[in-house]
Amino acid sequence: MSATAGAAGGRPPDEPVASTLMMRLRSLRNRLLASPRFQRWAAAFPLTRPVARRHTRELFDLVAGFVYSQTLAACVRLDLFERLAAGGPATSATLAAACDVPADRLEVLLRAAAALRLLERDPGGAWDLGPLGAALRGNPGVVAMIRHHALLYEDLRDPVALLRDGGPTTLGAFWGYAGAEVPAALAGQAVGDYSTLMAVSQQLVAEEILAAYPLRRHRRLLDVGGGHGAFTSAVAAQVPDLDLAMFDLPAVAAQAREHLGQAGLGERIEVYGGDFFKDSLPGGADVITLVRIVHDHDDDAVRRLLRAVYAALPPGGRLLLAEPMAETRRAEPAGDAYFGVYLLAMGSGRPRSRQVLEAMLVEAGFARVRERRTYTPLLTRLLVAER
Ligand SMILES: C[S@@+](CC[C@H](N)C(=O)[O-])C[C@H]1O[C@@H](n2cnc3c(N)ncnc32)[C@H](O)[C@@H]1O
Repeated sequence: MSATAGAAGGRPPDEPVASTLMMRLRSLRNRLLASPRFQRWAAAFPLTRPVARRHTRELFDLVAGFVYSQTLAACVRLDLFERLAAGGPATSATLAAACDVPADRLEVLLRAAAALRLLERDPGGAWDLGPLGAALRGNPGVVAMIRHHALLYEDLRDPVALLRDGGPTTLGAFWGYAGAEVPAALAGQAVGDYSTLMAVSQQLVAEEILAAYPLRRHRRLLDVGGGHGAFTSAVAAQVPDLDLAMFDLPAVAAQAREHLGQAGLGERIEVYGGDFFKDSLPGGADVITLVRIVHDHDDDAVRRLLRAVYAALPPGGRLLLAEPMAETRRAEPAGDAYFGVYLLAMGSGRPRSRQVLEAMLVEAGFARVRERRTYTPLLTRLLVAER
């Protein structure tokens, strides 16, 4: 029933008054906002002008967002931020020669990057890092994701086809386990690229988790889906007396052993290979971590995984579930738009809200599910559940 029909026909008897009122107000607002006459009036009237400008800017950013992203991608691929950080401010001509791009065309990119606060221009005309370009230098994981987005970009070329088809995607091929019948049979070359990408971006996530939850109280930690061991390595550096183990697909586990051995952590971190949907998880840990794991999988698979984690913990043992979540206040575009579409393209999983995850944890048998606040909920939130 449309809101107009609702207004004419009266509200259904079981519909709460507040929600009917909200629907009517929303319908009125939307009719106003869609009217070119109202738009012109709101832009001209001094009291509504700031809101009208903000809306126009928000809408323009949505329309043009892919151009901003590709501007950023070009800067990263041309190593502009690294060049400026290493060599200091440089003229357009110097940068054009270094990047092997005609000067007049590079100038377009430099100006675009300055408008996006990635670069800044000195009064003398030389280019330098802007605040966002400078911040990216401290975030190699984000830079790796920008490069990786070339794959997602291919899958989003026709977003409606992606929605309708659900067929094979570039991203699905990259994340080998996403559509694999037997993920444990994946070979080293099928898991190496995604594991490296995850390892580069793990440092920041590990810092968030370690700052939010004191692991000192535990005896042994098992990181399930531990990749190349980046999270357990970060824990090893901060919590000296904790026994550490990780579990991942056999090919990933083999690579983890190599990386950890090279880092001198081969003795400290025990590595298990297997399929967490088929094989039972090793016992003995009083805390198990699932870091950026659950959102990769569909609901039935997650239920199985949570039950397996529950079975591997002793009474009183804890599960730490850390990942970006849907419906995260002030980070909705990250949780619901970015991860929602990313995981759709990957062909498996979905971002879940805290409430949905909590319900799944309780269903698996866990009690006392609590959220520990992280510094950057956009990057990861953290739920702690007790067996
Ligand atoms: C998105 S990555 C996260 C890696 C790491 N926890 C991090 O945050 O950097 C997901 C990990 O789960 C592992 N994985 C996926 N399916 C698995 C399965 N069925 N059994 C064991 N590990 C699996 C992958 O190999 C990968 O290392």
